[in-house]
Amino acid sequence: MSEFLDTYHRRIDYMRISITDRCDLSCIYCTEQAVPCLAHEEILRYEEIQRIVQAAARLGVKGLRITGGEPLVKSNISKLIELLVQVEGIDDITLTTNGALLGRYAEELKAAGLKRVNISLDTFKADRFKEITGSDKLKDVLDGIEAAKKAGLTPVKINTVVMRGINDNEILDFARMTASEGWHVRFIEMMPLVNPGNKGSKMVSVREIRETIEGSIGELEPCLATSGRGPAKYYKLPNAEGTIGFIGPVTECFCATCNRFRITADGRLRPCLLEDDEIDIKGPLRNGAGIDELEELMKKAAVLKREKHRLNETYTHGQRQMWQIGG
Ligand code: 5AD
Repeated sequence: MSEFLDTYHRRIDYMRISITDRCDLSCIYCTEQAVPCLAHEEILRYEEIQRIVQAAARLGVKGLRITGGEPLVKSNISKLIELLVQVEGIDDITLTTNGALLGRYAEELKAAGLKRVNISLDTFKADRFKEITGSDKLKDVLDGIEAAKKAGLTPVKINTVVMRGINDNEILDFARMTASEGWHVRFIEMMPLVNPGNKGSKMVSVREIRETIEGSIGELEPCLATSGRGPAKYYKLPNAEGTIGFIGPVTECFCATCNRFRITADGRLRPCLLEDDEIDIKGPLRNGAGIDELEELMKKAAVLKREKHRLNETYTHGQRQMWQIGG
């Protein structure tokens, strides 16, 4: 198998696959206005995704993450997992979800071959949850977290986007869950994808989050990641079973170690989260492209990968909102 390298010699071994642009929540940092969802025929079918993954695996991709929108609003997602598990070379299939439907699907996803889940949760307060997500499903999400653990979709990681004046007074509550419940919590800097005019105003830097924790609870010790291929830096509180991760896309650009590309639900290869370059793969696929041709398209996408993002320079919003890319 060849090594899949981009122009800057970064090895690409990880692909994020958005399988729908629909979501049962509408979080304030993810969606600015309701844009009509994609028509059914625009969305990649499961067999098409499997085909794309076969090509990616031949190039050296080993890890897959299923995203959305919210992936669990799609019907029969266990079938997709079963199709992807069969692809030679793929050794790690994970999913990012808002957790609200996990209580229903955790067991069958595990049985299908899913390894683990990341669950987005920004608050423990029901009224605030409603403010952030527009929904009353906090309890479903908390139940979903437990269901994922029980099903063995572990380590379950909790993704928390910290927003100034909204949930920043819950940083310590989340941090303490790593000791009391053994949770793995990752704090994420809010990226200014929506409301560009409001750039960074609610963003709390990972440095500040860390200082808040160390100032009140105790020194954080660096530790290794328990799993995964992402950019988080991990720490532990003394005697905690769980870890605290920091993901700082805004203040700690980690593009130099980027190892991934994305597929949007409507079948475009997207080399970078924060750049609008895309290559259509659905069209060629539906016109009968063979696996070699799909590989060539992926190599082209790798060439388009930028050296680093421009969040702190000229970047203005982008064409797609987060729910249309998959985080
Ligand atoms: N900034 C930072 N993180 C975001 N997410 C979604 N939108 C943003 C944003 N603007 C996170 C979600 C989810 C992950 C896929 O991306 O919380 O956990």
